[in-house]
Amino acid sequence: MSPLQEKFLDWKKKRNAVVLAHNYQRREIQEVADYVGDSLGLSYAAQKAKGEVILFCGVHFMAETAKIVNPSKKVLMPDLNAGCSLADSCPADKLAAYLMQNPGLYVVSYVNCTAAVKAQSDVICTSGNAEKIVNRVPADREILFLPDRNLGDWVMQKTGRKMRLWDGDCYVHMEFTASSIDHIRKEHPEAPVVAHPECTRAVRALADEVCSTEKMVSFCRDNPAKSFIVVTEEGMLHRLRRELPDKNFIPGPTDHCACAECRYMKMNTLEKAASALEKLAPEVVMTPEVIDKARIPIERMLDWSRN
Ligand code: 13P
Ligand code: SF4
Repeated sequence: MSPLQEKFLDWKKKRNAVVLAHNYQRREIQEVADYVGDSLGLSYAAQKAKGEVILFCGVHFMAETAKIVNPSKKVLMPDLNAGCSLADSCPADKLAAYLMQNPGLYVVSYVNCTAAVKAQSDVICTSGNAEKIVNRVPADREILFLPDRNLGDWVMQKTGRKMRLWDGDCYVHMEFTASSIDHIRKEHPEAPVVAHPECTRAVRALADEVCSTEKMVSFCRDNPAKSFIVVTEEGMLHRLRRELPDKNFIPGPTDHCACAECRYMKMNTLEKAASALEKLAPEVVMTPEVIDKARIPIERMLDWSRN
């Protein structure tokens, strides 16, 4: 353990804080977190968190979700500027205008959106439960799925249900191309390919498994193969290597490099995380009105994906 990790753990104890980290966080942060997981697992962990403080090491919409499901906690982030290109692609005012012009739509929002967008949604989903959630929407309602058109397309393929798709994407997963994945597959023909559903249809078609980051861990654990090609943000490799040290993980390359990094996830450093605990800032703040409105579709998701 590094001296900075020790300092961090001292502050965590002093603050009686629960530390939640997404699978894309830096390795030194994952090592000192109480829980490391995908968006769905992190939402449940936030709901159950005891103590006074949650330090959320992930991106802003995830920390907002933690605050919404457990509003009496002080929710801190290492860096409040850690946003998301998907969340940016669907501004709340643009959605409000669209819904005004297109009344009657059932809005299914991928969790990668702001609280103000969640507040206008009927139900939320994550990549871990999107298929299940869409299958629960009443059959007579037309669905608007936002903001990720690639995840929406994948859900349409899985469920056979036609949906209107918002035109957003994740800039990190868009960098993987069919030719870059085809190339690495030929180099490692023995290695199954696991890809995140935010990848394009052409990339997903080359994958043996398309799933959320959490499911990647169980897929690689249960599959007898020794090597895997992992087509998602590179932080995922830390989680996989820590949890499955006997297996070999090959980063899915883009056309330029073998290190697809989310610049937002990487804004969080252990130094900033320790400072957030020490200063009890920066804090994630929302109006009670947005919290109350956004909680309804999030709780609907948590209920629907439990049953
Ligand atoms: P997961 O919910 O699968 O962890 O995905 C979150 C995300 O931001 C993917 O880019
Ligand atoms: Fe958003 Fe993409 Fe980063 Fe995930 S990897 S947080 S979807 S920008």
